[in-house]
Amino acid sequence: MAGSRSTNYVDSDDCLLEYSYLFSPDLLRGKVAFITGGGSGIGFRIAEIFMRHGCNVAIGSRNTSRVEIAAKKLVQVTGGRCLSLCMDVRHVDEVSSAVEETVASLGLIDILVNNAAGNFLCPASSLSSKGFRTVMEIDTLGTFNTTKAVYERCFKQARGGIVVNLTATLGLRGQVMQVHAGCAKAAIDAMTRHLAVEWGPDAVRVNSLAPGPIEETEGMRRLGGSWARSAGLFQKLPLGRAGSKLDVAHAALFLASPAADYITGITLLVDGGSWLTTPNAFPDILPSAKL
Ligand code: NAP
Ligand code: COA
Repeated sequence: MAGSRSTNYVDSDDCLLEYSYLFSPDLLRGKVAFITGGGSGIGFRIAEIFMRHGCNVAIGSRNTSRVEIAAKKLVQVTGGRCLSLCMDVRHVDEVSSAVEETVASLGLIDILVNNAAGNFLCPASSLSSKGFRTVMEIDTLGTFNTTKAVYERCFKQARGGIVVNLTATLGLRGQVMQVHAGCAKAAIDAMTRHLAVEWGPDAVRVNSLAPGPIEETEGMRRLGGSWARSAGLFQKLPLGRAGSKLDVAHAALFLASPAADYITGITLLVDGGSWLTTPNAFPDILPSAKL
């Protein structure tokens, strides 16, 4: 299947030029997925891989042209259906309208991927209350808003459904300059466990997927990826490389598939062992930082 590749991967995401199936091409045939932040980066690749496996997909974020352009590329390359939606996960009414539009256009949602997030590097001492709140609202509250809306409209009364929450390993060892995102993602991991317990009887599976450093993403660009690469940090990881968007998309596909039918309430780390060995303190990361 053909696609085009831009030289500026962060500003313009493109579909894979080549794809070899690892799973059955019909793995998600006839399913409907709703992916927040699906117009770029990891969310875009998850949308592509889901569509390549027969899923119809809705992608939603704040930037209308971004999701419209992404949807066109996804349809062109995979031949599936993709709906683009303008929404801010912080606003309950926008989320509800997007869910309604998806149901009207593609049918009831089977799979929700909470991928939308905001982040930046900032030492706690320089971080304002508003900065902390902004990240908590996009990541944690946004995940709650979207999950609640999809559950109420599509999953409850034992119809069932699948939730995959994109989190991170930041809070596991307390990464510097990441107190906002580490707390927001840890709260989502807790939400995963709470909802897995509460909604299991409705046949709803809820899991988190925590990527490590992923090449060619906005997250990597913002969080010191170039520095880590030039410092040779990725070669020192247990698996000796940074991850790819495809690594994450395949893990999301697994969690969203019947192969994971007895898996709920977990956080699946897709990080090549990175959290075990990556430096997480100022002297290692910023030798010049004043403590
Ligand atoms: P990205 O391309 O910037 O993806 C974030 C997406 O979220 C964007 O499409 C953005 O679109 C959307 N978004 C942001 N705020 C929103 C809001 N208020 N409402 C709706 N949509 C919103 O970044 P990425 O690197 O691919 O990250 C994807 C996910 O993986 C995130 O959850 C991130 O925390 C996680 N992660 C990434 C890495 C990594 O190495 N990249 C590592 C660990 C975890 P708009 O701007 O159009 O709204
Ligand atoms: N350092 C410290 N604080 C920052 C900051 C930075 N680099 N960027 C934003 N903030 C804080 C500030 O307190 C800011 O308020 P102020 O401008 O009044 O001081 C507050 O966050 C809100 O910023 P704003 O730009 O108004 O928020 P927004 O809702 O428009 O955007 C962000 C949210 C800041 C997270 C923005 O970077 C974004 O949209 N990110 C999405 C993409 C992304 O982060 N991808 C990577 C995912 S891992």
